Amino acid sequence: MKNIAVFASGSGSNFIKINENIINNNINGKIKVLISNNPRCDAVEYAIKNNINFKIINNHRYPEKKIKDKEYQNILSKSEIDLILLAGFMKKIPFSIIENFKNKIMNIHPSILPSFGGPGFYGIKVHEAVIESGNKLTGATVHFVDEEYDRGPIIFQKSIDVLSDDGPTDLSKKVLKIEHEIYSKVVKYYCENKIKIIKDKVVISE
Ligand code: GRF
Repeated sequence: MKNIAVFASGSGSNFIKINENIINNNINGKIKVLISNNPRCDAVEYAIKNNINFKIINNHRYPEKKIKDKEYQNILSKSEIDLILLAGFMKKIPFSIIENFKNKIMNIHPSILPSFGGPGFYGIKVHEAVIESGNKLTGATVHFVDEEYDRGPIIFQKSIDVLSDDGPTDLSKKVLKIEHEIYSKVVKYYCENKIKIIKDKVVISE
């Protein structure tokens, strides 16, 4: 069983889906802690209602960067975390955490990376850019996190068609459904030790 930390800042629908899959015994893991910068987000509300341990880390509570960065590490060490899941987390995570958790931090991104990723590509902006480009496919990507935004090794992707009458909001809804499906699937595989990195490429043994 893997100990999981989720980092989320917003509605937390990926966090909720993964937790539901844990409760239904589809994923052999446990969410030990939710870390958020935003005490008033839906993800925190869900954690409170469902008795999931949570911790708020932001500049207001930890004005000193050094102390703030240390706090992340303290929480992750205390909970003996094996896997970190970024799920709509809007802050940069400290470099020390990326180093200490190499290939143990995943992120979900609402496009087929490397297209429509990197600084500035978040939320509805991603879907606006996809429509603007005229691309006929979009989708979602789960990848490991390294020091560059949206650039770590790709673990899994799934695409959908962009229809001629799709607007950004339509795409975001359709892609979010795909996100829930593939993020849960990847976390399930990870918790069953089915994800390996061989020569910098991710290999999943189903
Ligand atoms: C998702 O679109 C995800 O791809 C992006 O942030 C959003 C989070 O959604 N990284 P939610 O908070 O899980 O509903």
